[in-house]
Amino acid sequence: MEKREELYHGKAKSVYTTDDADRLVLLFRNDTSAFDGKRIEQLDRKGMVNNKFNAFIMQKLEAAGIPTQFDKLLADNEVLVKKLAMIPVECVVRNYAAGSLVRRLGVEEGIQLNPPTFELFLKNDALGDPFINESHVQAFGWATLEQLAQMKAYSFKVNEVLGKLFDDAGLMLVDFKLEFGVFHGQIVLGDEFSPDGCRLWDKETRKKLDKDRFRQGLGDVIEGYEEVARRIGVPL
Ligand code: TMP
Repeated sequence: MEKREELYHGKAKSVYTTDDADRLVLLFRNDTSAFDGKRIEQLDRKGMVNNKFNAFIMQKLEAAGIPTQFDKLLADNEVLVKKLAMIPVECVVRNYAAGSLVRRLGVEEGIQLNPPTFELFLKNDALGDPFINESHVQAFGWATLEQLAQMKAYSFKVNEVLGKLFDDAGLMLVDFKLEFGVFHGQIVLGDEFSPDGCRLWDKETRKKLDKDRFRQGLGDVIEGYEEVARRIGVPL
C-alpha cells in the first residue's frame, strides 16, 4: 500500500488517498480544536494517543459485530481505513446530561438519562453543527430512513459494548458522537472513537478525562486521555 496525496485536511486528522481506490490513510495530528474550530492548539502526543485509542476501540466494536472502517495500524500516527462515502450527520448517544444538552434544556449536569437519548446533528462547522431530526435527514437526502435506522441501531450497540468496557475500568461513558459512511452499499462506522469525541468521567470522583478538559481549560488534557487508555488496556 502506498500513501499518495492529501485528499482532505480536517481539524484533527488528515486524509490521504492510496494506490487502492477502496482504502485511505488517516493521519492523526496533534491539533486539538473546540467550538467548531474557533480554538485550535497543539497538544504533544495527542495524534499518537488518539490513533492507538481509536484502533483499540474499533477492534473491540468489530469483534462485537459492528462494521467499522478500521483496517490496520500503519504507524504511531497513521491508520489504514476503508474509503467510505461519509454521511454528513453526527449521531450522539447520551447516558448522562452534559454539554449542549444541559445548555439546551437547562437540566443539571450529570443526571442519568434512562433510556439513553439518541440525537442527530448536521456536520457543518460554519453553522455550528445544528441539531436536526430524522425528517431533515430524509428531506435533504443525507441518508435514507433505512440507513438512519441502521445508524441508530449501531449507535445503541456501541453504547452497550463501550458502556461495559469503560464501566469495568471505573469510568462513566457520559456521551459520545459517531459518524457513519457507506462502503459497498453497507453502513459502516467511520471517523474515530477517542476522548476527543466522547465524555468519560471517573466513576468515584466524576473527574473529567476527555476533551472537556481542553474546552473548559482544566489542564492535563492528554494526561486524562492517557489515564483512560491505561485503564482500558490500550497499548501506547
Ligand atoms: P455536545 O454535548 O456538545 O452536543 O456533544 C455531545 C458529544 O458529542 C460529546 O461527547 C462531544 C461529541 N461531539 C463531537 O465530538 N463533535 C461535535 O462536533 C459535536 C457537536 C459533539
